[in-house]
Amino acid sequence: MNTNTTALLTESVEGFLSQNGKNLFEGEVLFHLARRLPSHSTAVEIGSWKGKSTIWLGKGIESSHQQETALYAIDPHIGSAEHKQNGEKIWTFTEFESNIAKAELQSIVKPLVMSSVEGAKQIDKEIDFVFIDGAHDYESVKLDFETWFPKVKVGGTMAFHDSFIGWPGVQKVVDKELFLSNSFKHVRYINSITYAIKVDKLSFFEKVQNRFAYSIKYLHIWSLKFPQPFKSFVKKLTWRPCQTAWMRDLSKIDTYSE
Ligand SMILES: C[S@@+](CC[C@H](N)C(=O)[O-])C[C@H]1O[C@@H](n2cnc3c(N)ncnc32)[C@H](O)[C@@H]1O
Repeated sequence: MNTNTTALLTESVEGFLSQNGKNLFEGEVLFHLARRLPSHSTAVEIGSWKGKSTIWLGKGIESSHQQETALYAIDPHIGSAEHKQNGEKIWTFTEFESNIAKAELQSIVKPLVMSSVEGAKQIDKEIDFVFIDGAHDYESVKLDFETWFPKVKVGGTMAFHDSFIGWPGVQKVVDKELFLSNSFKHVRYINSITYAIKVDKLSFFEKVQNRFAYSIKYLHIWSLKFPQPFKSFVKKLTWRPCQTAWMRDLSKIDTYSE
């Protein structure tokens, strides 16, 4: 199973991953982040909805023939506030289960139908990878970060969906806790997914790299206020080369520790 076959498999699964240009597919980012985990890893997803992102992560794990890597998919399956604006009741677990079965991922995906905080109490292990895509308001994202950060091992990866513009709560947590803290190296973003590797100690050079990535992000956001062709010019010169280089880097890594 590769990214093309996973794209076909997930085409009909309703979800929130975006496709923005041929090489910058968010599902692909998740696939590669999961693919580089070693055997016997513990991976966690917060917010699975109907399983689209879960399948991308699961297929990444499957493709690298990891043995005994578990992907805990945590979601109460009743939606977040942003899904219930008409007051309708939501139940996504039935479709989630059927989509995971169709993808033949039952041996990798362990669903936990509960909140992120409750899920953290169930998993008494160090975590290698966590993808956070639950409720998107600031308090919820902060709580997800604070719940999972201590459980992620040094060398493990934290990733956040919708962490670019549009979701200020996610953006605020990612800026403070990933880009500007001393707890992560290699803070990168592809489309709206920001990911970084937890460290014990950040070197000066790694700190400069994080600040560089942060500056490129805000240069791009600032340039959006201006008319064309200025914003395209800035994007072409800064944002696009970084995105392409990071995607290339991510897809060629086949071991977890860097
Ligand atoms: C944007 S959707 C996830 C989309 C999914 N990752 C995808 O790409 O298809 C957000 C999900 O977070 C779940 N959620 C909301 N609050 C949560 C919490 N406290 N813990 C875990 N999941 C939560 C909702 O039920 C919803 O299914």
